[in-house]
Amino acid sequence: MSTPERPWLTLVLAQSADGKISDFQRAPARFGSAADRVHLREQISKADGVLIGAGTLRAYGTSLPLGEVWQNRRRAQNRPPEPVHIICSRSADLDPQLPFFQQPLPRWLLTLNPGGWPHGGDSPRHFERVLTFAPEEENLPWGLILPRLKALGLHRLAVLGGAELVTSLAAGDWLDEIWLTVCPYLLGGTTAPTFLEGAGFAEAQARRLRLLELERRENEVFLHYQYQRD
Ligand SMILES: NC(=O)c1ccc[n+]([C@@H]2O[C@H](COP(=O)([O-])OP(=O)(O)OC[C@H]3O[C@@H](n4cnc5c(N)ncnc54)[C@H](OP(=O)(O)O)[C@@H]3O)[C@@H](O)[C@H]2O)c1
Repeated sequence: MSTPERPWLTLVLAQSADGKISDFQRAPARFGSAADRVHLREQISKADGVLIGAGTLRAYGTSLPLGEVWQNRRRAQNRPPEPVHIICSRSADLDPQLPFFQQPLPRWLLTLNPGGWPHGGDSPRHFERVLTFAPEEENLPWGLILPRLKALGLHRLAVLGGAELVTSLAAGDWLDEIWLTVCPYLLGGTTAPTFLEGAGFAEAQARRLRLLELERRENEVFLHYQYQRD
């Protein structure tokens, strides 16, 4: 539900032609082209914050900084050079030695761990802000979190995966639009994730999308959908 009380959520993902967002080993997905990386940066540059699942951070070890060109555009708009990189982790069990923690990015943590971030309290060296939610919850309570993020000044969020994070947001109907890059690969494998896992929707309950844009660049297709709520 898009309301003035919560941020606008844009999912940005690359998938293989058979719909997988990584291979059966859940290796960090790097099948998007250079053009897809430009596109990803462009989408990130529009956001005040990016949501990243802990599994994705563990797989890549880093996040994607915008780089000088996009940073300068944001500065010219009186915006911070980088959006806040918000890690979503039930456990907060993240290796503080990950290169991500050396990247010049603002970092926040959303967690259900009652101890918050176990490596040095709310040490700004790792996370500038740690938001801890009720540990009795199985999943991060987006109905509480999203208004909180909006109140903290985040109006637009880009959701960068992976599958578990996206599935939880989709299950609660919190996503507003989707940018999907279809890449010319076949990955197959029942353990390879698609971006929407879980029990799924019966066809009669399928969420409906409106195709806003479609662009082919060499062997990739960039699809832009918006949730159809009426
Ligand atoms: N193709 C692409 O564009 C793309 C983009 C991103 C990722 N990927 C791929 O996706 C794979 C990772 O996907 P994944 O499903 O394993 O990972 P994920 O969603 O990134 O991470 C799962 C972990 O994140 C935390 N988490 C996610 N949603 C949560 C929720 N609603 N409530 C509480 N905690 C939540 C939990 O952390 P804790 O374990 O810390 O409790 C959970 O174990 C990687 O192989 C990566 O390559 C592909």
